[in-house]
Amino acid sequence: MFRKLQDAEARRTLTIYVDGKSVSASEGETIAGVLLRHAPLLTRNTPVSGALRAPYCMMGVCFECLAVVDGVPSCQTCLTIVSDGMCVERQDGRREVCVRSVGVARRDRREDAHEVVLHGTGQDVTR
Ligand code: FES
Repeated sequence: MFRKLQDAEARRTLTIYVDGKSVSASEGETIAGVLLRHAPLLTRNTPVSGALRAPYCMMGVCFECLAVVDGVPSCQTCLTIVSDGMCVERQDGRREVCVRSVGVARRDRREDAHEVVLHGTGQDVTR
């Protein structure tokens, strides 16, 4: 199990809920950092084999740290900063695509996107 090194500067203590249990966290740290300090040391299991996974790269590359955060599945916990009262659930197997998170992603893409026309679907769709 990991333990936290002492901060040079005092940070505000927050409470988050991991699988329904209250856990202390420091302002500014990632969810993955909190999960690494609390047993069981895992964030999810795989949809195919059920193998247990835990944060690995801590920089958004490996996707081993996926968990459900405030009801949104497959969040990269190594890139997500804690906030007071946040609810985190270790992810069990496959998750459905979350309409809310897809909506945000589409909105973000539109700002920088060029017009794209999709053909061959029976009708032309312009996005
Ligand atoms: S720990 Fe690798 S993507 Fe989060």
